[in-house]
Amino acid sequence: MSLKTAYEPFFKIGAAISRWDLKTPSRVELIKEEFSSLTAENDMKPFAFLDEETNLAHPELYNTAPAIRTDNAKPYLEFARDNGIPLRGHNLVWHNQTPKWFFYRNYDMEGKLADRDLMLARLEHYIRSVLEYVQTEYPGVIYAWDVVNEAVDEGDFRKSLWLETVGKDFVIKAFEFARKYAAPGVALFYNDYETAQEWKRDFIIKEILKPLMERGLVDGMGMQSHLLMDHPGMEEYRTALKMYGALGLEIHITELDMHNADPSEESMHRLAERYGELFSLLVSAKKKGKANITSVTFWNLLDETSWLSGFRRETSYPLLFHGDCEKKEAYYKVLEVCQQK
Ligand code: GLA
Repeated sequence: MSLKTAYEPFFKIGAAISRWDLKTPSRVELIKEEFSSLTAENDMKPFAFLDEETNLAHPELYNTAPAIRTDNAKPYLEFARDNGIPLRGHNLVWHNQTPKWFFYRNYDMEGKLADRDLMLARLEHYIRSVLEYVQTEYPGVIYAWDVVNEAVDEGDFRKSLWLETVGKDFVIKAFEFARKYAAPGVALFYNDYETAQEWKRDFIIKEILKPLMERGLVDGMGMQSHLLMDHPGMEEYRTALKMYGALGLEIHITELDMHNADPSEESMHRLAERYGELFSLLVSAKKKGKANITSVTFWNLLDETSWLSGFRRETSYPLLFHGDCEKKEAYYKVLEVCQQK
């Protein structure tokens, strides 16, 4: 039994992977064995698709129609196609990992910021180019896109260059363009972190999801789910899941991990228990029709490759596999939970 087979009746099980994972035979085996969805950890983000050299060298040609490069994304698209594992596209619009020059007139950071019309032209052209490339060269490989990532912060729309140049309807515009160019059946998601937090949950529902739903532009809510060992509480998480679920959208858990800096056996046991609780909650919400969860993705493959050690500045042991792709107690717990139900 593997994760993907055990969870097949409920939802896809995914992992965020890097180009190094795809070059490491033991990790490739693990991916093929256990996972039914993949996300490129970094290589399909705006900084990876935007062709800096070409745009900056010829701004007169590309000012309204940014050039893209496809070499970063290609290995993932090929691997996914060749192995029949669908991809989540991550992500089209984000304040982070998007080059600053993208927001300036003529891509010149010594000049002025682009105005709304120029940014909307670039946004449409960028989304169109990326979607047309993946859909033409790799039809059917990408089943969902995080169209906008992390637009909410500190009780409001996040202060970002997107907000500054376009205004808060950059979210709606991004989804309009994504809907216009996405192939039928490709699901469009809004994705964010701390989505169980009460104010953020309510803001996302009211200011992002509902306006998008009224316009028929969104198919799903992405709950990143970078969790701590004691936060959020499971009740808080369950409430949020139900509230997003009640909107009738698909739910993806897009970036699951649980920061844990203590590798002792006891602590890894607590990690397993917390994963157990979370997966029981997810399976039960799905079974009871409370939330249409269709995909659950772990953010990274192994403890050793987790982004958390860098981000938290302490070694983290947050995942189901470690070392040479060995299974941890948490792996067996996650498997067991779904077979019990
Ligand atoms: C956010 C982003 C991801 C990734 C993680 C950290 O959650 O959505 O793409 O960058 O941060 O790795």
